Amino acid sequence: MTFLLCLFLILPFHRIGIMGAMDKELNLIKQKMKIEEVDTLAQKIFTVGSIKGIPCVCVQAGVGKVNAALTAEILILKYQVDAIIFSGVAGGINPQLKIGDIVISERVLHHDFGQILPDQFIPGDTTGYSADTVLIEIALKAVKDVKFPEVPKKLCKEKEHLPRVVLGRIVSGDQFISSEKKRQWLAQTFRADCVEMEGSGMAQVCALNKLPFLIIRCVSDLANEKAEIDFPAFVGYSAENSSLLLLKMIELLGE
Ligand code: ADE
Repeated sequence: MTFLLCLFLILPFHRIGIMGAMDKELNLIKQKMKIEEVDTLAQKIFTVGSIKGIPCVCVQAGVGKVNAALTAEILILKYQVDAIIFSGVAGGINPQLKIGDIVISERVLHHDFGQILPDQFIPGDTTGYSADTVLIEIALKAVKDVKFPEVPKKLCKEKEHLPRVVLGRIVSGDQFISSEKKRQWLAQTFRADCVEMEGSGMAQVCALNKLPFLIIRCVSDLANEKAEIDFPAFVGYSAENSSLLLLKMIELLGE
């Protein structure tokens, strides 16, 4: 009892919500969980338990911002998580990022919210949502301790080439981007580092509930015409990299 009380006072977060969009993004995380209960709500499966003694609830939200927003609200209202971390893959937008590299969210914005004029789209979200600074700090600390697997030979001939990790801007929209023209537009309009389909939906719900959040995304494709080929080829490798970083963060939270 005293031990539990001490744990409650020391830990910055008492129960963490862990979200992903697809099963590949959560497989490794669920393998490491000590599962206590599994519930289904709004067709989402909530796995309740702990990782390295840290209470958490892991859920596959499905693809898109509506799924992400709905799932985040359930995590907050039903499971009373006090932080949410999203782990998954993304299309690389910053030309310096390669497949396998990781973006830790500093900020996330909707890229498909705005006004359509006859020959122009005016973005309606130019500020977005800031990730929690404590979670960012823990993620950056965790990076130093993670043993990422080598970047696949198909991508890089160099031996022992490991992924790079950057703190950056993520944009989200209900669109899978496979267009170099759109990639350039996202880079110029939002100074985005990567694009995905859930982060800003989850972040908006967290902001409305004043709940800290963080997004970890590993690049699975470069959001260009090759994305449809690269995504299925590298989603497994990239999802695992993102999961490894999240798992290390959870480990640090328990120390
Ligand atoms: N997630 C992974 N790759 C993506 C892309 N190209 N567009 C949107 N979401 C993605």
